[in-house]
Amino acid sequence: MTSNEVREKYLNFFRERGHAIVPSASLLPNETDPTVLFTTAGMHPLVPYLLGEKHPSGSNRLASVQKCIRTADIDEVGDASHLTFFEMLGNWSLGDYFKKGAIEMSWEFLTDKKWLGLDKNKLAISVFEGDPSTSSGQVPRDEESAKIWQSLGVPKERIVYLGREDNWWGPAGETGPCGPDTEMFYWTSDESVPEKFNPSDERWVEIWNDVFMEYNKKEDGAYEFLSQKNVDTGMGLARVAMIMQSKNNVYEIDVFKPVVDRITELAQKNDLKSKRIIADHIKAASFIIADGVVPSNTGQGYVLRRLIRRAIRHGKLIDMENNFTDKIAKVVIGIYKNAYPEVEQNKEKIFDELKSEEEKFNKTLERGLREFSRLSDKDINGKDAFNLYQTYGFPIEITEELAKEKGMKVNKKAFYKELEHHQKLSRTASAGMFKGGLADSTEETTKLHTATHLLLAALRRILGKYVEQKGSNITEKRLRLDFVHPEKLTDDEKQKIEDLVNQKIKEDLSISCEEMTPEEAKKQGAIGVFESKYGDKVKVYSIGNSSTGSEPPFSREICGGPHVENTGVLGKFKITKEEASSAGIRRVKAVVV
Ligand code: SER
Repeated sequence: MTSNEVREKYLNFFRERGHAIVPSASLLPNETDPTVLFTTAGMHPLVPYLLGEKHPSGSNRLASVQKCIRTADIDEVGDASHLTFFEMLGNWSLGDYFKKGAIEMSWEFLTDKKWLGLDKNKLAISVFEGDPSTSSGQVPRDEESAKIWQSLGVPKERIVYLGREDNWWGPAGETGPCGPDTEMFYWTSDESVPEKFNPSDERWVEIWNDVFMEYNKKEDGAYEFLSQKNVDTGMGLARVAMIMQSKNNVYEIDVFKPVVDRITELAQKNDLKSKRIIADHIKAASFIIADGVVPSNTGQGYVLRRLIRRAIRHGKLIDMENNFTDKIAKVVIGIYKNAYPEVEQNKEKIFDELKSEEEKFNKTLERGLREFSRLSDKDINGKDAFNLYQTYGFPIEITEELAKEKGMKVNKKAFYKELEHHQKLSRTASAGMFKGGLADSTEETTKLHTATHLLLAALRRILGKYVEQKGSNITEKRLRLDFVHPEKLTDDEKQKIEDLVNQKIKEDLSISCEEMTPEEAKKQGAIGVFESKYGDKVKVYSIGNSSTGSEPPFSREICGGPHVENTGVLGKFKITKEEASSAGIRRVKAVVV
């Protein structure tokens, strides 16, 4: 049975049983859920409905196939069944059926010949053993689920009771719906199946999890009952396909084999683990880019960067030809373009981002590896790990992996201390504005960075010299500037500010940078925070005229950079939002297009 068929069968089964089919949501949880970077389970986009809101479909039974990213298991990627990108088959009851309904449907789908038709004798079950009597807010032993399984014919020896670590699910982030669960396992070995279920025997692979979501974890850590009893189930599509296709690892199923084969074609050496890591990571990266993320040094962008760079380093290990990542992505897109049209729609973007990240990392990877091998055979200290990160773009995981291969350790704590120290320094050096110095600002953020300087200068000209920067934040898409000003900007003011910035862009002014002491910078009229301890020299960026020109430049600011060379490359500047940030501080968001 192909992966596509598993997907279709699953949705048909639940459609027939009154479930509304929900399309896969984005890999990026919407902005209202800042507790996680990526969608990690099918229930994630459904949290409001699990908390009691009515689902727009009007149904209280839902099913979906949701694309997910989980990086927690990243070290295990390369074994038989762990992945960072995976598809989760799920069904939900929003206050409708509960334990009996959920378990009976799971059993029917798994074992009935019309559906998966799995061998009943190869299935085993775990249920929640209950909290120890000492813990407060105790949840009892789940005898009810065990009885339901037994009534369906599962023998007692195939049912185990386990604690919170194994049979409690959620919440997905810090807070939210959660509860005890019951999990289904399948015997994946050719050896004869033991009568008794031993959950620590890895030949029993977990395939499906039915969560009985009765609780809501609150910010203070307390659990309260939800207004309704929900069911949330999740089954890994690749694992099911692996069983249906009689394989003993997920990399041999139909949605992986062509990817691994292409890697084999492009590689000179053979290492199964490296090939699997490349296949998984490039697949994950392609989907993340399709959903709108680009490699960067923070948040989702940094997860993406780590995945791509780790794939590239494993590519080196098996002597892949240079610039292989987009070639692998091409195969991934071919496999998924019908189920997830967004990968096809965004294929040029996927190729471009992968290629440019690979080019960037290839420039430093060789030298970084040489630097690593120069480090003596003792453990890697924080400074060296930071140097590998800062100068050669090695995410800490790559340094750790390299060290592990040599039997060495990395002092991660010291690395993070070093990183924090440098980020503080560069924040100071750029007057609280930008992450100066961190190797790779992208073209877009660099443009927005220069646009921010133009905006601040324009604000001071149109509104008054009292305008001071109070904060700034730049993403790939927009700039955000907080500044001192007592009231809402009028439409006329906004227009004038936009016009002035656009005029300066049109004039194609050049941007120059000089190093000088803070005193000298002050004398030259540069703006920025002077109270901070900068060290001996600061960088001053001038837009429009060098410091020796007869007229003062349009903008002169203390800043860590980087900036574009001429304003002409910026495109059209547009304010997209103006609002209050706090008392006496306004916030403007703007783009250059
Ligand atoms: N939320 C549960 C899980 O991720 C069931 O979908 O396992």
